[in-house]
Amino acid sequence: MEKIVPNRLDRGFFKYQKEFEDKAIEVLRSGWYILGKEVEAFEEEFAAYVGTKYSVGVGNGLDALYLAFRALGIGEGDEVLVQGNTYIASVMGITMNGATPVFIEPDEYFNIDASKLEEKITDKTKAILVVHLYGQASNMGPVVEICKKHNLKLVEDCAQGHGAKFNGKSVGSFGDIGCFSFYPSKNLGAFGDGGAITTDSKEIADTIKMLRNYGSEKRYHNKVVGVNSRLDEMQAGLLRVRLKHMAELEQEKREICERYLAEIHNDLIKLPKTREGATHIWHQFVIRCESRDRLKDYLEEKGIGTIIHYPIPPHLSEAYAYLGIKKGALPITEEYAETVLSIPLYNGMTSEEQSYVIEALNSYV
Ligand SMILES: Cc1ncc(COP(=O)(O)O)c(C=O)c1O
Repeated sequence: MEKIVPNRLDRGFFKYQKEFEDKAIEVLRSGWYILGKEVEAFEEEFAAYVGTKYSVGVGNGLDALYLAFRALGIGEGDEVLVQGNTYIASVMGITMNGATPVFIEPDEYFNIDASKLEEKITDKTKAILVVHLYGQASNMGPVVEICKKHNLKLVEDCAQGHGAKFNGKSVGSFGDIGCFSFYPSKNLGAFGDGGAITTDSKEIADTIKMLRNYGSEKRYHNKVVGVNSRLDEMQAGLLRVRLKHMAELEQEKREICERYLAEIHNDLIKLPKTREGATHIWHQFVIRCESRDRLKDYLEEKGIGTIIHYPIPPHLSEAYAYLGIKKGALPITEEYAETVLSIPLYNGMTSEEQSYVIEALNSYV
């Protein structure tokens, strides 16, 4: 069998090839490539998908996070609570504004442990950033309550959670702002970089529209020093095509993961769990294993590629050495970094490929 890689983006393209190609040609022939009717239509359709009043397209997920905290006025001297075991971009969105991340340990579902939030709140705390990691909605009930009780802003990093729900409500609609990435490997992936924010606030949506375009509402009238971070017409058009098929794409991945959950049996491997009331859209299928590095090598030898999301937690990265947080400060986060492994999962994964992965995992000793 051909090597099984962790993700196969080509399969997702070929599934709807004609629709993608027709849209690409339509955009190419339109003569309009930045901030036009495709972006406007996508923003409307994406807001409806998430269940918010507004969505604003931006250049990528990191910019969505950066602009979110900037629009909320969070910066120098402010603290933001965020889970320790996230992708580093979540943290960069905070620190690019001059604010300080305060790391919270994750729960058994890999999301922020809501029971550990209140002990970290100080008079500098201004916001909580929840990350719906690997595609599972975080425990939003208590998180929303804590934000209300302590008058904190709530930002959601939904880069891995498009369409995930908590008690029937979509992620990205709980907080002041939801931040999305459309990096090609995401469940709603573009064919290049892309991102968006979602919000119910017209003021926030307008501020981010201004900030993404050099701080101008009206051409050449610049109110503040903004950035250039726009979702382009081509990506927006192609995202509109994929958005129409999200239910089908999600179902296909769910079926693969249900098979993994039912058929992987090995005492050395811990399978992911889904919280009651939360849905998982399976951006990644993340297992845990004490001998993770040996398992990774073993799978590689069998022609199965895997990825570690993520081997170095942000607090131990060189980039955040300045925070002075030592190894051992976040034992659960650090243990996850040493044991997690994402196994192959993608739309268009064949039944034979799934069986091969399952058999290899079951024969690991
Ligand atoms: C949790 C999380 N946050 C933020 C990002 C940043 O998104 P982007 O790569 O589009 O900047 C990503 C993805 O890369 C992510 O997985």
